[in-house]
Amino acid sequence: MEYALYIILAYLLGSFPSGLIVGKLGYGIDIREHGSGNLGGTNTFRVLGKKAGFIVTIADILKGTLAAALPYFLGADVIALIVGIFAVVGHMYPVFARFKGGKAVATSGGVILGVNPLVFLILILSFFIILYLSKYVSLSSMLTGIVGIIATVIFKDYGLTVLISLFTVFVIYRHRSNIKRIMNKTEPKITWM
Ligand code: G3P
Repeated sequence: MEYALYIILAYLLGSFPSGLIVGKLGYGIDIREHGSGNLGGTNTFRVLGKKAGFIVTIADILKGTLAAALPYFLGADVIALIVGIFAVVGHMYPVFARFKGGKAVATSGGVILGVNPLVFLILILSFFIILYLSKYVSLSSMLTGIVGIIATVIFKDYGLTVLISLFTVFVIYRHRSNIKRIMNKTEPKITWM
């Protein structure tokens, strides 16, 4: 019963549509109708600029961190990793935005931050190194998941290996259109790095 409550809370938290709220309230724009159509930080950067993109990315990370920390703060005997998964599901398929959400990257990162900040730091570093080399945010997001799997195997944190493997499957599944664009060389590259 306790699990069901935390899972629902985490899903609702993950469903909070940061990109939609910042876009609509701040700029009168539904970012799902612009750029890649994704309701995430990258598309917010692309469509609305640095300030909005930064706010949405941080909010999307915090949704995951808060969901993972919820059982801890409320003294519940449930596993943060499992609760965190549902925050990511909420982010991808938000009940508050007609189930059209983001691509799982920032909120997955937020859950990992709540569970193991050192692994999160490794993921951030690897994301920016891959981004610097490739200039593709989408490719960096997907490959960073693989780096996370390898890092947690090295640390023998196998619970986190399973979690990051699942997140990586989510991330790759949600990047199907990006993969097609990378293959036919139409995926936009970043120009600021
Ligand atoms: O976090 C999502 C990013 O990897 C790709 O976003 O808008 O380029 O599809 P987008």
